[in-house]
Order: sequence, then C-alpha cells, then structure tokens
Amino acid sequence: MEKDLKKILLDEKTIQKKIEKLGKQISQDYKDKTPILVCILRGAVVFLSDLMRTISVPVKIDFMSISSYGNSTQSSGVVKIRKDIDVDIVNQDVIIVEDIVDTGLTLDYIFKYLQKHNPASLKICTLLDKPEAHKIDLKLDYVGYEIENEFVVGYGLDFAEKYRNLPYVGILKKEIYT
Ligand code: IMP
Ligand code: MG
Repeated sequence: MEKDLKKILLDEKTIQKKIEKLGKQISQDYKDKTPILVCILRGAVVFLSDLMRTISVPVKIDFMSISSYGNSTQSSGVVKIRKDIDVDIVNQDVIIVEDIVDTGLTLDYIFKYLQKHNPASLKICTLLDKPEAHKIDLKLDYVGYEIENEFVVGYGLDFAEKYRNLPYVGILKKEIYT
C-alpha cells in the first residue's frame, strides 16, 4: 500500500500527540458532563477509538453512516443516511466525530439532521480539515490538522475502501485515483 503514496503526511506518533491534546480539551470542556460521541462511519472509527481513550469524563458512543462519495474522490453533495443513531440525544451533549472535512457538505447535512433532535449542545470534532476545499460555512469546534487540498488515505480514511488500515495518514499518488 505504501508504494501508492506520494508521501506520509502524519505519522503515528504525531497523530497520537494531537489526539491527546484534543482529548484533554474535550475533557475540560465537558467537565461533569457525559457527551455522546457520534462517529461517522466508516472513516472515523480509528480516530474515535483513539480519541475516546484520551477523554477522562464518561462518554457514550454511537454511529451514523452516510453515503455521499461512492468510489469517487469528489463530494457529490448528495447525502443519504444508511445508518441512523440508536441512542436518544434529546437534551444530551453531542460531539460529531469525523475523519475529514472536505467540501463540508456531508457534515453540514449531519449537523442539521442531528440538530433537529434537540440535543443540549452539538459540536464537531474532526481529525483533518481541508479549509481550501470548503463549499459551505461550517463551525468546526475541534480540529486535529488543517491540510492542503490533496487526497489522503490511512488511519481510517480510504480510497475505494482501501488503505483504511494504514496506521498513518499519507497523500495518495494522483495516478491511483485519476
Ligand atoms: P465532504 O462532504 O466533501 O466534506 O466530504 C467528507 C467525506 O468525504 C469524509 O467524511 C470522507 O469520508 C471523504 N473524504 C474527503 N476527503 C477525503 C480524502 O482526502 N481522503 C479520503 N476521504 C475523503
Ligand atoms: Mg467520512
């Protein structure tokens, strides 16, 4: 898999250090609370499993699955819920856990959808963000890294369901996806 990468962008140690920081911040912000972490499948599972173990307040977890990309590297903006949340989030503090924000269209949809359930609070935590690619104004509360507008894989992120199990984040060679 590594031969398909242009370079490794974030190695394991770098990612873990950043996640510890995020976890500390969340633990402080949610003191005496029990936030529900809503993980967006499938890309954010690796991030969720590392992040939740750096948070010192009790948390609950749930999962949501959305389809938007197919095997393409371009966001269609067309979003469909494949799996909804199972827990009741009315009056609960909710944090959406996402792997990466590209156009922001997916998260915008999820945010508005969850907001309709009347949570006490709703925030967004993403490991990666591509600010240049945003097509919509979105408030991101916790961001691991802002990255250039390039297609990245690994640490949960895929191209056509491949590369998710790479322990680091790498930039995929253009010839692989064009
Ligand atoms: P958006 O709706 O354009 O913000 O797309 C967000 C979703 O597209 C993310 O949750 C990822 O699943 C996927 N995505 C966006 N950029 C990348 C990337 O560079 N690598 C892998 N997946 C990506
Ligand atoms: Mg995703």
